[in-house]
Formats: sequence, structure tokens, C-alpha cells
Amino acid sequence: MEKQRQTQLLDGKAVAATMKAEIAAEVEKIKAKGGKTPHLAAILVGHDGGSETYVASKVRTCEEVGFKSSLIRYESDVTEEELLRKVMELNNDDDVDGFIVQLPLPKHIAEQKIIEAIDYRKDVDGFHPINVGRMSIGLPCFVSATPAGILELLKRYEIDTKGKHCVVLGRSNIVGKPMASLMMQKAYPGDCTVTVCHSRSENLKEMCLQADIIIAALGVPEFVKADMVKDGVVIVDVGTTRVPSDATKSGYKLTGDVKFSEVAPKCSFITPVPGGVGPMTIISLMRNTLLAGKKEIYK
Ligand code: GUN
Repeated sequence: MEKQRQTQLLDGKAVAATMKAEIAAEVEKIKAKGGKTPHLAAILVGHDGGSETYVASKVRTCEEVGFKSSLIRYESDVTEEELLRKVMELNNDDDVDGFIVQLPLPKHIAEQKIIEAIDYRKDVDGFHPINVGRMSIGLPCFVSATPAGILELLKRYEIDTKGKHCVVLGRSNIVGKPMASLMMQKAYPGDCTVTVCHSRSENLKEMCLQADIIIAALGVPEFVKADMVKDGVVIVDVGTTRVPSDATKSGYKLTGDVKFSEVAPKCSFITPVPGGVGPMTIISLMRNTLLAGKKEIYK
């Protein structure tokens, strides 16, 4: 009989709770010394279900760690001009340490134009080309929250990354590209040999079978199956697709990019969905806001 592998969960929910307590303690200290309360503002356009949930969660977490937060809402017919005006206003508001514009935006608004209008020193999402560029050459910057959260999770579980083959599935600007860049940098976590696969890759399964670490960010529910991974692999599942379900009150079930039930037994470590990457993303945004408040990255 083959020995049953012990799979360990990368418990993002638990790590995020620890980090939340660490950030809250630091905020307490800042306030006790008469320092400024960190302030995060969020712009939300329209009523997309996912965006509503994420932004509500960000605002709630701000309260929990002792930050000030501002939620600025627009209907989906808001003009690009009006949005740009608000971005400028927040850029110039000394009380606001960092702000985000929740994506996606309605089609009539040029997302990239909005992102580039944000002062990079307040860009706690790390989406501005200055932050992306600085990240890619290893300079201090705001690293976008999902990749930053994944790195922190790998670090806190002391996952060995040096010299390992990391396969990133997906090439989005928010996750795939920065993740690949970070996993190859000369650092810990990092020092990986990185392969990026995407919807056009012809040999995706063969690549996955060679991976020591898989970061799945395709947005295709249960795409990664047991026959695509080798024994002992570390898997980080970034997928959060809302799949209709009768079993939940909300009427949908958050589903990852990995078919967890069949893949998990082959893994040394794997993130659950929900409770893996999601909580790490939100807490990483909080950490970026704290860094912005302390002017730790940019004076
Ligand atoms: N939409 C999906 N993820 C994100 C994120 O991390 N930040 C923003 N602003 N929008 C998103």
C-alpha cells in the first residue's frame, strides 16, 4: 500500500486573522502617540455583486484594524470626467493616505486612464505603472494585494521556493503577471524558475505536471484536475468564480480554479476556496494602507 500523503491547508483565513491583530496593534500604537489614523478611500461604480461584496469587506476590515475609511459610490452611468475629477480630489486630500478604484469599471470608462490618474504614492492597489515597474525591478513599491497576500502566505508556512519550478496559470495584470515577476525575483519567497501558462498555451498540462508550485489564476472553475499535477505539489488557488448553487443562502458558491476534492490528496500544501487567498488579499490591502499612512515607501 502506498502511504497516504498528509496534505496541509494553507489557511489564509487564520493567517489573515493574525495579520489583522498585528496591524490593529500597530494602529493602536500610532494613535497612542498622537499620530494620524490611516485612511483608505474606495471608489465603487455600479452594483456588481462581486465588487459590492469585496468593497464591503474592505470597509469592514478597515474598521476592525482601526483605520478610517471612506466609500465613494457612483451609479454605472458616471462619466469618465467625473471619475477623474474625484481621483484628482483624493490625490490632493491630505487626510487620505491611500485609495482604490474597484474594478471592473463600466465599458465607457477607460480603466487604464483612471489607474494612471491615481497618484502612485496613494496607489495602495499597486496598479499604477510606476508601482508595477518598480516591483518588476525589485524596488520598494506598493505590491498589488493578491500577489502580496500569496507571498505572505508562502512565507508564513515556510514553503521552500528557492530553485523550484513555479507554474503560474493566467496572465492578468492584477495576478498572473505580477505573481510570475515576484516568484522569479532574487528573494524569499522567490528564486523560482517560472513558467506562465494561459488560455492559449498548448502544453499546459505537461507544464503543470512539472511544477513544484502551481498558482492557479485563470478564473475557470475546477480547471486543474488530479491528472495534471505531480505528487507533493504546492497549490495556491486564486479562483473565486461564483457558481450558481441551491445549497447556499446566497444562491451561489465560490469556486476555485482547482478541483479540490481530487487534487488536494496529491498536494503537500493547498489553499482552500473560500478561506485561502481571499482573506490574504484584503489584509494585504490593509498593510499597504498602513505603509502609506506611515509614508514608509514614498515620502
Ligand atoms: N477587482 C478585482 N480585484 C481587485 C483589486 O484587488 N482591486 C481593485 N481595485 N479592483 C479589483
